[in-house]
Amino acid sequence: MIEMTLREIADVVGGTLHDVPDPGVRVTGSVEFDSRRIGSGDLFLALPGERSDGHDWAAAAVEAGAVAVLAARPVGVPAIVVAPDPGSVPSSSVALAGDSDGSGAAVLAALAALARASVQRLTAAGTLTVVGVTGSSGKTSTKDLLAAVLAPLGPVVAPPGSFNNELGHPWTALRADADTRFLVLEMSARGPGHIAALARVAPPTIGVVLNVGTAHLGEFGSREAIAKTKGELVEALPSSGLAVLNADDPQVAAMSTRTTARVVAVGQSDTADVRATDIRLDDQARPGFTLHTPAGSTPIQLAVHGEHQVGNALSAVAVALECGADLDTIAASLSGARAASARRMDVRTTAAGVTVVNDSYNANPDSVRAALKALVTMSRAGDKPRRSWAVLGEMGELGEESVVEHDRIGRLAVRLDVHRLVVVGTGRPSRAMHQGAVMEGSWGEESILVPDIGAAIALLDDEVEAGDVVLVKASKSVGLWEVAEHLITSEPSSGRRGSTEAVE
Ligand SMILES: Nc1ncnc2c1ncn2[C@@H]1O[C@H](COP(=O)(O)OP(=O)(O)OP(=O)(O)O)[C@@H](O)[C@H]1O
Ligand SMILES: [Mg+2]
Repeated sequence: MIEMTLREIADVVGGTLHDVPDPGVRVTGSVEFDSRRIGSGDLFLALPGERSDGHDWAAAAVEAGAVAVLAARPVGVPAIVVAPDPGSVPSSSVALAGDSDGSGAAVLAALAALARASVQRLTAAGTLTVVGVTGSSGKTSTKDLLAAVLAPLGPVVAPPGSFNNELGHPWTALRADADTRFLVLEMSARGPGHIAALARVAPPTIGVVLNVGTAHLGEFGSREAIAKTKGELVEALPSSGLAVLNADDPQVAAMSTRTTARVVAVGQSDTADVRATDIRLDDQARPGFTLHTPAGSTPIQLAVHGEHQVGNALSAVAVALECGADLDTIAASLSGARAASARRMDVRTTAAGVTVVNDSYNANPDSVRAALKALVTMSRAGDKPRRSWAVLGEMGELGEESVVEHDRIGRLAVRLDVHRLVVVGTGRPSRAMHQGAVMEGSWGEESILVPDIGAAIALLDDEVEAGDVVLVKASKSVGLWEVAEHLITSEPSSGRRGSTEAVE
């Protein structure tokens, strides 16, 4: 963040100073909500959590070097105190699971105000460009590609992993300082108005909308409602800004009427300004394609896995071109960009030759379809077809569509000719996926339903052989990465598996 005195911060957030001997002392570091991360000159954010209350760690944070604490009550050490606001706890807030009295909401509101002030000063100084990315799937993947293509142009701040909610977004925005040239922000929504709110915290001049899918369908109620919310990003852009829209997704393409900013369409369709043709996948499902842009054409080879990364890469290209990058540098950056965030299409081959596709970070119908296609491409790429395994768990938050969507995935696995679908879990959605596969299949052996992760591991230990390709994917809450990590790290018992190497 920009350097500010405690007095200035109190004014910006509407708080009062407590136990502060010198209001002129400056916060020179970052803002942290984990006291273990506090360094000298930082500001500590006291948030209530499910297990412990940040206010209890205030003294430890100051001891570790924090200049002060941003808190909802006096804490006996220098603090900027904002009043709890019980009326403002958003019902869908994921960041405020332990907030019973509104103190967390007040601290988060103060964080947002502080981030807004900092970003506003940096953009007014003309040194910072803010890029916002939204969509149902691919925000983190695109954010990582964007960080790679923008890096040659100047220092980039982007969130680690998937830090995209009302805590992660302003926290990331506050990491931008006077040296930062690009702030790349992932913007997620669980309900109407969420993207607009994030856009007020750090107003983007470039907005990327990737797709409108079915993630969080349960909370939104319909795809139209999701599209309406995602479109809040392009509505927030200034007329001097740029909207990067996916020409292959009709609901995203239609957002061009909701912005006064210039529009660049990306995709495979003929109408796209930034286009990919001749897409082919290599034996690790890494896409190569010919990139066409108003600045010329060039071959691109991606180092990330899955055809869905083509659209993500095109969006990154459109942003990089807007920011002044040349095509050769963009192509070089893209070919070097690896998955920077964990458990997303992370492809590894064990010493014994089992290829594990760890995509266990999260799942929704679109991303499962993309991953199944990548799995099948990999299994068919060599001279000799390899057996493909899809170990899938429940996709959460699909509301009334849940059973139908799980059934569809089960059927798709069979249609794509996945050798074996292993469905993990006993809930209705898992059973629907298994049942869908059984109905679509011929022999009844296309799918097996196992009750839990332990049973999945036991089955795979028994049956997976050298040469097989195993995809592991489910919603975050299932924790299916245990299966992937077991496959990758387990000691060779029968000489099948051993140490692992990342596939380059
Ligand atoms: N454009 C895309 N279309 C469909 N699936 C995608 C796309 N990009 C990435 N995926 C897949 O979607 C899953 C989530 O990817 P990623 O983490 O990039 O998305 P996200 O939008 O950040 O998700 P979240 O909302 O959980 O933060 C991964 O399995 C990834 O392989
Ligand atoms: Mg994400």
